Amino acid sequence: MAEEIFVSPRKHGRIAVLLSGRGSNFMKIHDAVLDGRIDAEIGLVFSNKEDAPGLRTARERGLETVFLNPKLTPDKEEYDREIVREVRKRGTDLICLAGYMKVLTPTFCSQFKNRIMNIHPALLPSFPGLHVQQKAIDWGVKFSGCTVHFVAVEVDMGPIILQAAVPVFRDDTEETLAARILVEEHKIYPEAVSLYFQGRLEVRGRRVDIRD
Ligand code: GRF
Repeated sequence: MAEEIFVSPRKHGRIAVLLSGRGSNFMKIHDAVLDGRIDAEIGLVFSNKEDAPGLRTARERGLETVFLNPKLTPDKEEYDREIVREVRKRGTDLICLAGYMKVLTPTFCSQFKNRIMNIHPALLPSFPGLHVQQKAIDWGVKFSGCTVHFVAVEVDMGPIILQAAVPVFRDDTEETLAARILVEEHKIYPEAVSLYFQGRLEVRGRRVDIRD
């Protein structure tokens, strides 16, 4: 069977950001949109947390925001269907997870194959999951870093787009390592989104190649 190849679209796109917290990665993506490094606009910033600082920032920046209370829709499939409705309403090309702390349902993921990105604060496939900076320290690795990847049904395991490495020092705490990694996150996430809308991401199975 011929291998399926996906090439990201070269176009002026529309992005939906999903976040649950601080939103520093969202801000860096938005900064890159504003200064023209990313050929797209942010049509929606969505959160499952009403008081997420990132949601407040999005409002202050004049972006459209939506909060949906998960307590009012405890059924995960139904909750995700509501997000999908909001995302589709705005003609979204790419969904950027930026510290979104809920796992998307398989139905959601499969509807947006190669159209959802996530940033993870470790060098995947090492250390998937949560508290990964502490896990990297506890394991004794000499380098950690961050990964931008497409989202697939299996959590933190989709095709890897970009990675950046940082050293882990003997006296690192979870906080100091997280801060060192975050500096790199802020570079590679906007870069990956930029490449996407330049039509330069080519996905074959697990591999993502960057076209010249
Ligand atoms: C980042 O460390 C990101 O890698 C992880 O969640 C954190 C979100 O930080 N997925 P922020 O909300 O973007 O500041």
